[in-house]
Amino acid sequence: MTRHFLVDTDLTPAEQAEVLDLALELKANPYAEAVYAGEGAGRRTVALIFDKTSTRTRVSFAAGIADLGGVPLVIGAGESQLGHKESITDTARVLERMVASIVWRTYAQAGLEEMAAASRVPVVNALSDDYHPCQLLADLLTIREHKGPLAGLTLAYLGDAANNMANSYLLAGVTAGMHVRIAGPQGFLPAGPVVDAARLRAVETGGSVLVTTDAAEALAGADVVATDTWVSMGQEDEKAARAELFRSYAVDAAAMARAAPDAVVLHCLPAYRGYEISADVIDGPQSVVWDEAENRLHAQKALLVWLMKASQAAQADGE
Ligand code: CP
Repeated sequence: MTRHFLVDTDLTPAEQAEVLDLALELKANPYAEAVYAGEGAGRRTVALIFDKTSTRTRVSFAAGIADLGGVPLVIGAGESQLGHKESITDTARVLERMVASIVWRTYAQAGLEEMAAASRVPVVNALSDDYHPCQLLADLLTIREHKGPLAGLTLAYLGDAANNMANSYLLAGVTAGMHVRIAGPQGFLPAGPVVDAARLRAVETGGSVLVTTDAAEALAGADVVATDTWVSMGQEDEKAARAELFRSYAVDAAAMARAAPDAVVLHCLPAYRGYEISADVIDGPQSVVWDEAENRLHAQKALLVWLMKASQAAQADGE
């Protein structure tokens, strides 16, 4: 059985911990897992398909694949037949015969599921409308570096709580055994099925879920405070209206005063200072956003290695 990573819960709690352990090892020794290089290594190329713009995801995957001895093949929006001249399934059937893995930033989660269903090589979600699971591996790695073991820590996410980052904070956070609090205005909270999935996973790990419209309730004593842009890709025309709607969920000095005194601040970037986060917070001593950005590299290298080895092990066992 080929292992894919389309949503945060595709890794069990134990598997997520293995990936994070490997990420720490690769951060200390970047060339220790040259899985794409040398005799007998198999395929060297990883397809990186970007239907949307990207800085961190694109560069961290490309650099990470090079570190692993591989060749990143970046395919930008409109540069392949995918989605207009050729179906997702037919594209997967071609790519799986040529590349080691397929990494795809796209819109619909269903597209990723279709790609994975037709691919015998791992498919990785590099951001969809619903989830951003690679970002969460980097975020968890960063929290672990700054706060120690993840289980039992409290994370408060404020802002647009109906977006892909809120969903992934819920699912990945409880997978790590964290207490995840999500705060946003009514109508901009996570969908019921995502909350249900998070609560189910939390039962397994000892984590918990709180979804609220009260930012102060989410922030009270939190170990980690996180936010994301209020204007996701494709929502640029709504910027003024969304700024008004989310204003009371901004991560600023007043918000940080409600969190634990040693709380750290995350933002997946790009950030809009003065909107979802104030300049004094993102550029201040509690911010770990640059470590978080760097950790995309280490976490995704670990993920690619882990998916390849897990897929090979399952195939060797006849699964
Ligand atoms: N955080 C993140 O995914 O950044 P990019 O959109 O630049 O890849």
